[in-house]
Amino acid sequence: VITRAECEERDAADPLAHLRERFLLPPGVIYLDGNSLGALPAGVPERIRITVEEQWGKGLIRSWNDAGWVDLPRRVGDRIAGLVGARPGTVVACDSTSINLFKSVEAALTLAPDRRVILTDSGNFPTDLYVMAGVAARHGMEVRSPAPEEVAGSIDGEVAMVALTQVDYRTGRLHDLPEITALAHAAGALSVWDLAHSAGVMPIDLEAAGVDLAVGCGYKYLNGGPGAPAFLYVAPRHLERFHNPIQGWFGHVAPFEFRPDFEAAPGVDRARVGTPHLLSLAALDAALDAFDDVDLREVRVKSVDLTELFLALVDERLDGMGFTVASPRAPSRRGSQVSLRHPEGYAIVQALIERGVIGDFRAPDLCRFGFSPPYLRFVDVWDAVDELVEVMANEVWRDGRHRVRSAVT
Ligand SMILES: Cc1ncc(COP(=O)(O)O)c(C=O)c1O
Repeated sequence: VITRAECEERDAADPLAHLRERFLLPPGVIYLDGNSLGALPAGVPERIRITVEEQWGKGLIRSWNDAGWVDLPRRVGDRIAGLVGARPGTVVACDSTSINLFKSVEAALTLAPDRRVILTDSGNFPTDLYVMAGVAARHGMEVRSPAPEEVAGSIDGEVAMVALTQVDYRTGRLHDLPEITALAHAAGALSVWDLAHSAGVMPIDLEAAGVDLAVGCGYKYLNGGPGAPAFLYVAPRHLERFHNPIQGWFGHVAPFEFRPDFEAAPGVDRARVGTPHLLSLAALDAALDAFDDVDLREVRVKSVDLTELFLALVDERLDGMGFTVASPRAPSRRGSQVSLRHPEGYAIVQALIERGVIGDFRAPDLCRFGFSPPYLRFVDVWDAVDELVEVMANEVWRDGRHRVRSAVT
């Protein structure tokens, strides 16, 4: 039996425990949704205030230069580069993940022409599947989406690129990024990775793995806030030949020369399109302070410990209550989330949220719990499962109000 006191002891011995102070968390909430919208880092409100009141309010348009707004996408990109194993000058923070994926998939086609298949997997996030289907339709190509376990065996000489999300948003299943990248290259294909559910919560070494292109989300484990800009990585060897399918002025070599013809910027700036979303970008920049001096290997160790603890408690206390574990049991195959299937999943998650335990629901039956190591304690995991036991034992979820479906689940 795992006791709450044991969890308190683990918190006392946790080398990352001090990171929790870098976030503003509401009292009485156990936040298990950092995989969807990260918590608010402590420095963000003041940074937003300065950006709005000082830089915008007083500096006005001068702030594009004086406050360094114009190259903030690159500076934030360099900070993210440090978290994903990329060198400075290869990552830019801009646009949304969907748009960056579109740019990357299109650009990959010009880097690896003459092949007719985009290979992904059936578990990929819908926006990724939609973007790829759209690109494929315009180019007369085919999207192949086998089951995640069958991707490696499906890479053949017809494949132009293997485009996958590293951690499955539903189950938390973790692809072997270096291995699949190597298999893609061996078959003459490129690799395009979506790091939405992995950036900031585990060590990633894009350069060591030889990844060609990658994108990721700013508002999940990077905690950049709702609608935070996403990021885009281009391997140094492709920078000069990366053709952005959206030729906007901020991807131009000299935007303020207002030339009539497009000439791409020399570095990763060519992946930009238009005016940066400055307020969101400033928030993301401030949010990244929470990663100062943080070793992502330590974050990963704690992430595995948290998900292992959650699973152990689920096994111990929720047996016979109708749950099945949808996430891989082996920690090496799992990201920082655990999903439980239950036919009444939606109502169960709503009942939990009402009690301050915030996870989310993914249709048709997944209760999804994300574990963000910088601000989550072991005792939170214990308390969350305790609430779940209450919700089940007392059938709290049966109340009609827990069945009302909101637009965002
Ligand atoms: C794997 C993956 N890609 C992309 C997105 C969303 O992209 P966007 O920032 O364009 O909304 C998500 C959102 O949850 C995601 O999980």
